[in-house]
Amino acid sequence: MNLSEKKILLGITGSIAAYKIPMLIRELKKQGADVKVICTHDALNFVTAPTLSTLSCNPVYSDFIKNVNGEWANHVDLALWADTILIAPATANTIAKLANGQSDNLLIAAAMSASCPIIVAPAMDHDMYIYPATQNNIAKLKSYGHYIINPEHGELASGIIGEGRLPEERTIINHIQQVLTTPKKFTGNTVLITAGPTQEAIDPVRYISNHSTGKMGISLAKEFAFHGAKVIFVHGPIFMQPNSVFGGLDIEAIETVDGEQMDKAVSKFFKSSDICIMAAAVADYKPNIVSIKKIKKGSDTAKLELVKTTDILYNLGKNKKKGQTLVGFALETDHEEKNAISKLQKKDLDMIVLNSLNNKGAGFKYNTNQVTMICKNGEKLKTPLKNKNEIALDILNQIYKIRL
Ligand SMILES: Cc1cc2nc3c(=O)[nH]c(=O)nc-3n(C[C@H](O)[C@H](O)[C@H](O)COP(=O)(O)O)c2cc1C
Repeated sequence: MNLSEKKILLGITGSIAAYKIPMLIRELKKQGADVKVICTHDALNFVTAPTLSTLSCNPVYSDFIKNVNGEWANHVDLALWADTILIAPATANTIAKLANGQSDNLLIAAAMSASCPIIVAPAMDHDMYIYPATQNNIAKLKSYGHYIINPEHGELASGIIGEGRLPEERTIINHIQQVLTTPKKFTGNTVLITAGPTQEAIDPVRYISNHSTGKMGISLAKEFAFHGAKVIFVHGPIFMQPNSVFGGLDIEAIETVDGEQMDKAVSKFFKSSDICIMAAAVADYKPNIVSIKKIKKGSDTAKLELVKTTDILYNLGKNKKKGQTLVGFALETDHEEKNAISKLQKKDLDMIVLNSLNNKGAGFKYNTNQVTMICKNGEKLKTPLKNKNEIALDILNQIYKIRL
């Protein structure tokens, strides 16, 4: 086992199991790792900063502001420094904060700024561990791509016997090793993802658009970046600022407004992409003539002549090279599978992801989705209704499988 030159940012939280961490640091140092420690305030009730800094050979961080001169501990730099962040022991409280983005201490702020893998080792009383909120929060962390070291069964500090014990240092180090040596599924791949609606101008004030929010595409972009890919994210007008949700991930966001701009951006990046996922809801039609001036209210009825927009996905299918994987999305209201399969074939896709507006909680605006993935070889995979991040992971795994 060798962790030579691996940079480990170790987060310690206020669990009784924190007493094991000085020994873990000693072992990590013996393996050659470089260790920096962030303690929550409660962690310092269980272990002392001088012990941790002596063993790690680095200062111990616990506050955003380091001293009376107002010097700050840069949580972003700490996160970028790390090859992995290990939170051990992770209290139910810290797990809840991390799952819900409640960044009110240095450890959570650093973890939320990270683009490296995050390993979380929950440790708590058995009943706290099986409490539904804790289990839901752990499931959320998994859906973000974080790696969970399951606690062990045994005698707990409360005297209760059950699940909740922090594993011994050897086991934790084995997990770190596994995370740091497992090649990420999409390292070396460029993935082009489109998201959101397009806006097709009628006049300088009005446009034709749809209800797409871009949430599914954002989840996909993050998931592929977590798995090592370089992501090009071409999006239509969406309410989120992509750079604020992508943190330090390797994602280049390109903003477009209408189908023509999206087509240009996609065509530019398609050639150098290994995978292209068209999750954007591009308008099928646009006004034939865009009025330069605002159209005035006049007669009781008005006619708008529409013409077809460029079929971006069809063109990509035609220009697809060997080794490229092309994935489309279909949102249908009727004859869902039949229509999706027809789109898959017409546009020469490798897979189509079907959303149905008939499924409650799925599709536009929700944070959840339910999809059926239909592959070129006829394989079908239907997911239950779940968080869009979890759906993104399912889509990523299916794309990985079809590219093997
Ligand atoms: C003696 C003692 C032991 C504790 N052990 C744990 C524990 O093992 N796991 C846990 O989740 N909380 C434990 N707690 C409760 C946490 O310290 C408390 O929820 C705290 O707010 C955690 O803050 P932090 O997550 O910012 O470190 C313990 C509290 C005390 C007083």
